[in-house]
Amino acid sequence: NPLQGAQFVLAAHRIHQLPADEGAEVAFAGRSNAGKSSALNALTGQKALARTSKTPGRTQQMVAFSLPVTVHDEMSQAAPVRLIDLPGYGYAKVPEALREHWRHEIDAYLHQRRSLRGVVLIADIRHPMKEFDRMMLEFCFGTLLPCHVLLTKADKLSRNQAQQALAAVRKQLDASTPVTAQIFSSSEGTGVEEARDAVMRMLHG
Ligand code: GTP
Ligand code: MG
Repeated sequence: NPLQGAQFVLAAHRIHQLPADEGAEVAFAGRSNAGKSSALNALTGQKALARTSKTPGRTQQMVAFSLPVTVHDEMSQAAPVRLIDLPGYGYAKVPEALREHWRHEIDAYLHQRRSLRGVVLIADIRHPMKEFDRMMLEFCFGTLLPCHVLLTKADKLSRNQAQQALAAVRKQLDASTPVTAQIFSSSEGTGVEEARDAVMRMLHG
């Protein structure tokens, strides 16, 4: 597993608290309770790395994890590699002021973070392409930032239904943009290898 050995670095309320903006990182984004933290754990192969919860609104900060690998920067120096777990978007029970704060920070993060190499967009396969997902895809279209969609919780559907959901999502994606999509399940391990490959391509591409 090329993503093994991840370690918690820090949790940040604001983007300036994140690790130095150097090297390469991939962010995990999606609606509240979609399964972002669970996907991060499945990909790193560490069950309890990122905190997960049945209750939406679990991840309340931007959480940075380091990987024990490096990339080469413009000066051919070895530079660090990170995965970032983002707070979920749009949970109604989170106070509006806090939701607004996260909206602002996620937006600033996407626009300003120079080491950001791509986004893993996590969506519940039963409710894909909601407003936040479409906003994120539009952002990626506009900036040509690679995006890989994980249609997660596929274990909640039959194989056939999951394939149909994937086909419907792919139909909505513009083929001229660097967006890919796949079926995923953190609990069953479905699609884990394919997703790891996508993350590695973002980090090293
Ligand atoms: P926030 O941090 O609150 O935004 O949520 P999150 O997107 O990080 O979701 P999290 O990983 O905490 O998972 C939310 C709930 O969905 C938990 O109860 C998980 O156990 C469950 N869950 C996550 N992935 C899967 C999956 O692939 N299959 C099933 N059946 N349940 C899942
Ligand atoms: Mg989370």
